[in-house]
Amino acid sequence: MAAKRTAILISGRGSNMAALIRASREDGYPAEIAGVISDRPDVEGLDLAARAGVPTRVVEKTKGVSREAHDVAIGAALAELGAELVCLAGYMRLLTPGFVAQWTGRMLNIHPSLLPLFKGLHPHRQAISAGVRIHGATVHFVTAETDSGPIVAQAAVPVLPTDSEGALASKVLEAEHRLYPFALKLVASGRAVLDGERVTFSNVAAAGSLFSPEAAASEADIESLARMTP
Ligand code: GAR
Repeated sequence: MAAKRTAILISGRGSNMAALIRASREDGYPAEIAGVISDRPDVEGLDLAARAGVPTRVVEKTKGVSREAHDVAIGAALAELGAELVCLAGYMRLLTPGFVAQWTGRMLNIHPSLLPLFKGLHPHRQAISAGVRIHGATVHFVTAETDSGPIVAQAAVPVLPTDSEGALASKVLEAEHRLYPFALKLVASGRAVLDGERVTFSNVAAAGSLFSPEAAASEADIESLARMTP
């Protein structure tokens, strides 16, 4: 099966983007990164992508341009890149329902919390103030509502009583860098498919063993997934 052409939308640092680019270069990975689109110029992620030899586009939202018109421009850039899948990776702009509808079942987002907990801004601060002992990250199909949508995969990290917001963010980010390539692999290979309000998984027995907190995020399981037969 040909690798799925995947575009990544960013707004900043691009560390999840870099993790996806790295993974896409592994033998047999089912997605290739067709390009990176940023809504902001001069962000670190654009430099990282360019240095990795990945085509980049900037589609800036300037004053006077409606959100709809901006999303149309993003759609045009995606078409130009021949994108079949889209990964939002720290893309900090709300997408319009019309745009989201065009990419139903083909657009993923990563959010640094165990959704449906702690949507929106400052999820680590929210987790600390809620006093949870387990926190983490979620990759989900994008729906019109922010940080919602059927869940593809999650990774969990412990919250220590001594963790600052920054320390917790770093631990979660490290888990994100394993989780996102894992989730994209499931979707690009057709093993995780959006089915109405839920995600259905093929090879359920194997997928079940991959969803314990550490397993979902471990390199060993990414490897074992690669060896799974459909
Ligand atoms: C990541 O932690 C990602 O989960 C989060 O932004 C950060 C981007 O970092 N996304 C959201 O909060 C979406 N609601 P990165 O640019 O280094 O990947």
